[in-house]
Amino acid sequence: MMIYEGEGGILKRKLEGQVALITGAGQGIGDAAARQFAAEGAAVAVLDSNRDAAERVAERIRQSGGESLAIHADVSRSEAMREAIDQVHARYGAFDVLVNNAAVQIMGLLHEYEEADFSRTIDVNLKGVFLGCKYALPLMMRQKRGVILSVSSVLGVAGDPDLAVYGATKGALIALTKSMAVAYGPHGIRVNCICPGDVRTPMVEQFFEFQPDPEQARRQVYGHYPLRRIAEPVEVAKTLVFLASDDASFISGSHLFVDGGLTAEVY
Ligand SMILES: NC(=O)c1ccc[n+]([C@@H]2O[C@H](COP(=O)([O-])OP(=O)(O)OC[C@H]3O[C@@H](n4cnc5c(N)ncnc54)[C@H](O)[C@@H]3O)[C@@H](O)[C@H]2O)c1
Repeated sequence: MMIYEGEGGILKRKLEGQVALITGAGQGIGDAAARQFAAEGAAVAVLDSNRDAAERVAERIRQSGGESLAIHADVSRSEAMREAIDQVHARYGAFDVLVNNAAVQIMGLLHEYEEADFSRTIDVNLKGVFLGCKYALPLMMRQKRGVILSVSSVLGVAGDPDLAVYGATKGALIALTKSMAVAYGPHGIRVNCICPGDVRTPMVEQFFEFQPDPEQARRQVYGHYPLRRIAEPVEVAKTLVFLASDDASFISGSHLFVDGGLTAEVY
């Protein structure tokens, strides 16, 4: 039976009692997601290849009264991902949500792109997601429930001259999401991805600060967006909370734009 929010009692936090692992959670969108998941009642494993960053985020969550575990791992390494997921399962006795967020972005025109950069981008952005899913799915299938979310990008469906390889990995995540939703829906597992436009993370702010006129550069980028601004990390984090929660109980196989209308506009 469907229960309407607030009906017959006090409102529950959206992820109360859930166990989540978020990759690349040491900064930016992953950091915001980890804090928002914890605020909504989830125990959060903060995985990052930057050990100090992961520990900082986990400590901050614990200091605000949440439950968190820092994991130092590179998502592109099979053994590290298997161990990370097993560690979370052993510690909390469940594995409910995987958020595939870690990625690298190496810019360059395709004909000048180094093979090593191509391989690294594929290894982190695509193989890393494959490995996370590969090791999380058997646990979720045993539980007969679970949620897998991946952070794709508007560049998974649209072009950028300097980000063809990055965009190719993001497009691949959309395809992976759809096939996994079909394959694992019968096991009670929902699979979705989100496609953000620009988000005001340290990386994007740095890009603006490096421009000859940062304010002019900001105005130009913001001007591309129908909402005339870029996203705050917390807005992306809240979308991930929504998709992870029972509020999204019938949403699977979707790629959801979190782009202030950017991809809706042609003229
Ligand atoms: N910032 C944006 O404007 C934007 C827009 C669209 C999509 N995205 C996507 O959102 C996600 C997060 O982006 P962000 O801007 O917060 O990135 P970021 O670069 O600020 O943070 C990424 C985090 O991932 C970690 N990381 C990198 N490689 C790793 C690896 N191999 N193993 C484990 N951790 C690793 C980094 O240490 C870092 O803490 C990415 O998937 C990115 O492609 C970002």
